[in-house]
Amino acid sequence: MDIDQSPPETQPLSNPSPGMTVRLGTCDDLDSLVDLGLAAMPMDPQWDYRYPHRLEYPDEHRVCIRQSWARFFRPDPGGGRRVVLFVDYKSNASSHSTKPISFSVSHFPSQTRQEQGHEVPQQSAFADNHPSNFSPVSSTMCGNRRDWNPGHVEAFRCAVRAASDGRFASRYGEKQAHLQILGTHPGYQRRGAASALLRYGIKQAREEKLPITLFASHMGQPLYARFGFEDRGTVVVQVDGEEIKVTLTAMALEVTE
Ligand SMILES: CC(C)(COP(=O)(O)OP(=O)(O)OC[C@H]1O[C@@H](n2cnc3c(N)ncnc32)[C@H](O)[C@@H]1OP(=O)(O)O)[C@@H](O)C(=O)NCCC(=O)NCCS
Repeated sequence: MDIDQSPPETQPLSNPSPGMTVRLGTCDDLDSLVDLGLAAMPMDPQWDYRYPHRLEYPDEHRVCIRQSWARFFRPDPGGGRRVVLFVDYKSNASSHSTKPISFSVSHFPSQTRQEQGHEVPQQSAFADNHPSNFSPVSSTMCGNRRDWNPGHVEAFRCAVRAASDGRFASRYGEKQAHLQILGTHPGYQRRGAASALLRYGIKQAREEKLPITLFASHMGQPLYARFGFEDRGTVVVQVDGEEIKVTLTAMALEVTE
């Protein structure tokens, strides 16, 4: 599926390289999503903070991330909808095969585009009998997972929740699009893939008249700033009594007509 990649009014970082296509993900992309996530996200220090034992337990890490990320393709119990996008890359024009190199996961509020007369991009959800809905092995394993630091995971969750309330919800309520995750495979970075995803997300948010909020890593921050995202303050994640900490930057873009 080709999606319009025309540049937004805010200055794009760069045009995506030839051969890149942005498309909506489906539940069949879960393994691609996990592959890309496990390749890209460890470049962000919060990943090692939350999952410091991932290299000791790589299989467990993968199974549990996969189990957790399957929710991106299920209806959101809290309301709203998630949009998973991929950039596929075709190395040369004559090749028929493409591979996903970059992804984003965003959350949009329940307010629908239909209400505003737009067509809603539908994320395909797992069918009730899809194997990802029934995995006793991974449920047991992930209940006692050894790849993470539970204290750090909880500190991260609390800090992000508090910052979401204080810096975003207090201002926008539910009416915000939230970019949850963005990553590009390390072998394909700095070619405009993440910019193409951002450009599409900004276009979608603009059509729905929604601001976009996110928590940026140090790698993502300059990229978002170039798209006009404003700094809404530093978020420190730290367990009381520990020296180790990670910082994120709350950022928001108030899209205009
Ligand atoms: C941030 C990230 C998604 C950018 O993906 P990308 O496809 O390379 O992005 P683009 O090519 O569209 O834009 C490149 C810009 O991203 C930033 N960037 C990309 N790689 C970077 C790196 N190794 N160090 C610092 N900044 C980097 C720079 O601003 C860069 O612009 P420049 O090349 O002109 O300096 C990618 O680096 C990534 O997956 N990082 C690890 C996970 C992460 O931090 N995700 C963001 C969470 S908020």
